[in-house]
Amino acid sequence: MTTNCILERVIETRSTNDDLLERWRAGELVDPVARIAHKQTAGKGRAGRSWLAHPEDSLCFSLAYPFKRTPAELSGLSLLVGLAVLSGIAQACNYSESELHEAGLRLKWPNDLLINHQKLAGILIEGGQARAGDTTWMIIGIGINLRNTELIDLSVNNGLKVSSLAHITQSPPDIEYLWLKLVESLENHLQKFDLHGFQAYKELWMHWDAYLGQNVCISGVGRDPVFGIEKGVDDFGALLLLQENKIVTVHAGDVSVRIQS
Ligand code: BTN
Repeated sequence: MTTNCILERVIETRSTNDDLLERWRAGELVDPVARIAHKQTAGKGRAGRSWLAHPEDSLCFSLAYPFKRTPAELSGLSLLVGLAVLSGIAQACNYSESELHEAGLRLKWPNDLLINHQKLAGILIEGGQARAGDTTWMIIGIGINLRNTELIDLSVNNGLKVSSLAHITQSPPDIEYLWLKLVESLENHLQKFDLHGFQAYKELWMHWDAYLGQNVCISGVGRDPVFGIEKGVDDFGALLLLQENKIVTVHAGDVSVRIQS
């Protein structure tokens, strides 16, 4: 396995994202760093939620990655990360990507992985550019449920039911092996993304889109819910909604998408 990342393993920390963010803010990051924690005591989810995970039953890590692009040029990054994670899972579990698709794995805009509409993994991306002209450092945090989802507190998961790798494979891969496959896949995808942007991945992302063609509701703190039929994403990874006869574009932020029955 080949990776250009510095690999760090810790038994316990508050949050691997916070650890790397702190280093970025102190100007200490030089090369990409992947940091995995057996246990996080203050794991963070999106929109200020907590990420609760039982050490033996989940994989929690963050990757600090330097981009040549400015933060404004990184639209679609969270969607690309979803594609990289599912590709890493396929390799680690020895499945083809079409087998994963048949097993019900999908991507939920902007950045969740689902199995049969239940949450398998979450992605939290933070970071930016300290000063104009500096390298853009993004801290990409990933939490994947491996097994025993009945132990997870649903109230912290935005109401989504939870799934795990155990639902698609009898024996989830060894955590270390899965982690290295994910880091490798992320590095490959991020390198290409930095050169070409999201556009090259748009069709592929839509192949995995959990809600394509379905009635959805987009909601977020301080904004009115938006309803429409989900029509995939544009070249920048923004979500397209059909409302009556017009297409409305929704940009990623702290919004959540739900199926509207
Ligand atoms: C979400 O779905 O709300 C995003 C969850 C992201 C969780 C991961 S676990 C590793 C990294 N460290 C954190 O504190 N959060 C992310």
